[in-house]
Amino acid sequence: MRNDITDVTDDPLARQARWLEHYRPGLRIAEQGRVVSIGDGITWIAGLPGAAMDEILSFEDGSQAMVFDLTEELIGAVLLRDSKTLTAGAKVQRSGRFLSVPVGDGLLGRIIDPLGSPLDGKSQPAHTRWQALESGSPPIMARDFVHQPLYTGTRIIDTMIPVGKGQRQLIIGDEGLGRSSLALDTVINQRDRQVYCVYVLIGQKRSTVVNSIETLREFGALEYTTVVVAEASALPGLQHVAPFAGCAVAEFWMQQGRDVLVIYDDLSTHAKTYRELSLLLRRPPGREAYPGDIFSIHARLLERATCLNAAQGGGTMTALPIVETQLGEIAAYIPTNLISITDGQIYLDRDLFAGGFRPAIDIARSVSRIGGQAQHPRIKAEAGHMKLDYLQYQELEVFTRFGARLEASMEAVIRKGRVLRQIFKQERLAPLSPTSQLAWLIAFNEGLFDTSEPDAIAGLLEELEEALRHTRLTLDSPREEWVAAVSGPLGRASGNNEG
Ligand SMILES: Nc1ncnc2c1ncn2[C@@H]1O[C@H](COP(=O)(O)OP(=O)(O)OP(=O)(O)O)[C@@H](O)[C@H]1O
Ligand SMILES: [Mg+2]
Repeated sequence: MRNDITDVTDDPLARQARWLEHYRPGLRIAEQGRVVSIGDGITWIAGLPGAAMDEILSFEDGSQAMVFDLTEELIGAVLLRDSKTLTAGAKVQRSGRFLSVPVGDGLLGRIIDPLGSPLDGKSQPAHTRWQALESGSPPIMARDFVHQPLYTGTRIIDTMIPVGKGQRQLIIGDEGLGRSSLALDTVINQRDRQVYCVYVLIGQKRSTVVNSIETLREFGALEYTTVVVAEASALPGLQHVAPFAGCAVAEFWMQQGRDVLVIYDDLSTHAKTYRELSLLLRRPPGREAYPGDIFSIHARLLERATCLNAAQGGGTMTALPIVETQLGEIAAYIPTNLISITDGQIYLDRDLFAGGFRPAIDIARSVSRIGGQAQHPRIKAEAGHMKLDYLQYQELEVFTRFGARLEASMEAVIRKGRVLRQIFKQERLAPLSPTSQLAWLIAFNEGLFDTSEPDAIAGLLEELEEALRHTRLTLDSPREEWVAAVSGPLGRASGNNEG
């Protein structure tokens, strides 16, 4: 009898008979938990013995949470979506899933929350696939050295603290010194440069969020940018996962072979949110009451920014994390962590800002450990000595305040330094193209600003910019042609000055 059945495999009746023969009645176990308590964006749950760290839990009212802490009796979870009706006693189930976000070109120009839901009042963005928020960073064998420049459009940065594609460069400074402005300028400067951008806003005021988005829109930067927002009033769990969501969106494009720039604004707020969640979930606090694993969380996030090698498609993810200091104290826990994780930092100084030197970048305390390799050789050749010369000028300047008499060579250093100081002042929202950078560098090195009064320099730079619009010079044009091009407007101007 049995042999007969196995012989006729296509017969549906036969298949059914076979299924019946192997059928064994038994118990199917579905775990169900219950909410024990809820509040401050976290919840404690009893039951669900099989739940794993970071697993998504679904509540009967449609709320969602992520497992954050496992104890013997209870599960601590952070809420990612909550409804006002969620109370103790509600039923909870495991989903067996981990967090992921929709990714793809459909996200360009969109404003989303860290779960991928639209915040711009439009429909759900079209997506290519779902990308996990947590994933390993590319192995060393898949990576390449950082070798292409990423232009920020800021004179000081592109010449003396250059950033390369795939680099992680920290923007650090006290509150209100222009950290976000530098990041926004960099995003705006990627226009027509085939770099997709992801701007992550963590725990910011609604007004700041709106202003940032409007700025991007106004300068035509939103069309190649995705903004991921978890504002200050959002659930702390959402603020915690926001940078990972932004990273996942960027990672997809990097894996497609594209260049991506991602901004985390800012990771101090992120660390504070994580501290708050951890304390609520009674995890042991460490230094400055931050949980011990905050370092590894930030390292895991930033390690995913890299430059893939040609075999992997050659995509890059450049990360500009932002961190806030208190009274310029860079030795605090979170700033030192981030300084050690990143490839350099751009340090903003309160005194410089107050003195009207903006962007208030303190050149002595800023460094780019790998960007120099990626700098365009022409810009590198012109800007090579600039940082040392400028630092020397800063030191000498102090002496002149005491009325000390200096040698003629020193006076030349000071004169040049003072000119440079004026050149470095730059309005926000006016990023410079690489050719404009080369133009002023050559003009400066040719001494064309030497006889100008400091107050006249901003005007001269504008004239130079105007003159450049009528030339077709590129970064690779011969130096003589460049010298001729910049001498025209500036030679005239400095001649006038002398007369
Ligand atoms: N290059 C600049 N020139 C003139 N003003 C600037 C420049 N950069 C920034 N500012 C001004 O400085 C102020 C603070 O800038 P921004 O909001 O970017 O700083 P922040 O460090 O991100 O501040 P927050 O602590 O609020 O996040 C703004 O009013 C901005 O207009
Ligand atoms: Mg800011």
